[in-house]
Amino acid sequence: MNRIIIGNGQFMQAGTLLKDMGIAGKVAVISDDTVSELYGAQLQDILEKAGFEPFFHNIKPGEASKDLDNFGRIMVFLAKRQFTRSDVIVALGGGVVGDIAGFAASVYLRGVQVVKIPTTLLACVDSSVGGKTGIDLPQGKNLVGAFWQPVMTLVDPTLLRSLPEGIYRDGLAEVVKYAAICDAALYDLLPYDLSEEEKVISRSISIKEDIVSRDERDKGERQLLNFGHSFGHAIERLSGYSLSHGRAVAIGMALMAKASQSKSFCSPQDAGKLIGMLRVLGLPIDCPYDAEDIFQAMLLDKKRQQGNITLVMMHAIGDCRLHSLPLSEAYEVLKLGLNA
Ligand code: GLY
Repeated sequence: MNRIIIGNGQFMQAGTLLKDMGIAGKVAVISDDTVSELYGAQLQDILEKAGFEPFFHNIKPGEASKDLDNFGRIMVFLAKRQFTRSDVIVALGGGVVGDIAGFAASVYLRGVQVVKIPTTLLACVDSSVGGKTGIDLPQGKNLVGAFWQPVMTLVDPTLLRSLPEGIYRDGLAEVVKYAAICDAALYDLLPYDLSEEEKVISRSISIKEDIVSRDERDKGERQLLNFGHSFGHAIERLSGYSLSHGRAVAIGMALMAKASQSKSFCSPQDAGKLIGMLRVLGLPIDCPYDAEDIFQAMLLDKKRQQGNITLVMMHAIGDCRLHSLPLSEAYEVLKLGLNA
């Protein structure tokens, strides 16, 4: 079970928290050059003071590092330092670091413990909980991976203060997603100021943990977390990844809200509220691509099953539902979202 710690200043307690969980010995801190420059020395100090022996391995920042080569290097790094199953991997960074370090933990010696210390809002509220890990292949994102739950996710929002504003905004798209799928009260907290940040992060994580506790393997309810993502991933891919994940998902959510309204699943007021909030948060809502291109890009996505595609439609703010549709109907939904 993943222990979730959230609080300003909790980073400083990382060593004690690990010790309290009965973890001792070596710690492999997987990070990237940017994050390591900001927080690496501090974490080394924190871990050494608590009696751990930390070893650092940094990858270059960015999605391109989530590949087989870097994965292989992490395996060799762990083996050369004779890491055992009683040692621990700490992922210090955003989604890329969390995904590759989590995947490394899931397969090294057939599985070692991993702790996530997210340093982006998106990683705090999404990728550092739920246990999805993975790396990319030239043929697509996250094509290789495993479900591997962290033993602890340590969220210290003060680590987010070094984030460029645009990267923080990306995470807000996922917060809007949680509000849309099942928590109208979370929607009412948006937009929030820093005094409410812990509450917003904590609520978002609880929603995800709750859903994952009922459907870890993504067979049903967990797919609600894909609201805005089916077309969002396609939009991200079409942009050659120049549109960030959060921005592409924001466009995908706006598109699904409009399609849901056109299909009379939700009221124009609710669709307008969702789109209005994305705008207020500085996220994009207009799609620069046409239906044909988006659909083709989406068909490459691994989540398509046996000719049908599961789309998440909005019935109200706080009430999204899964609709399994034949491809032809999914294409119609996409066109409705683009043309509304
Ligand atoms: N980010 C969606 C999920 O973890 O299922």
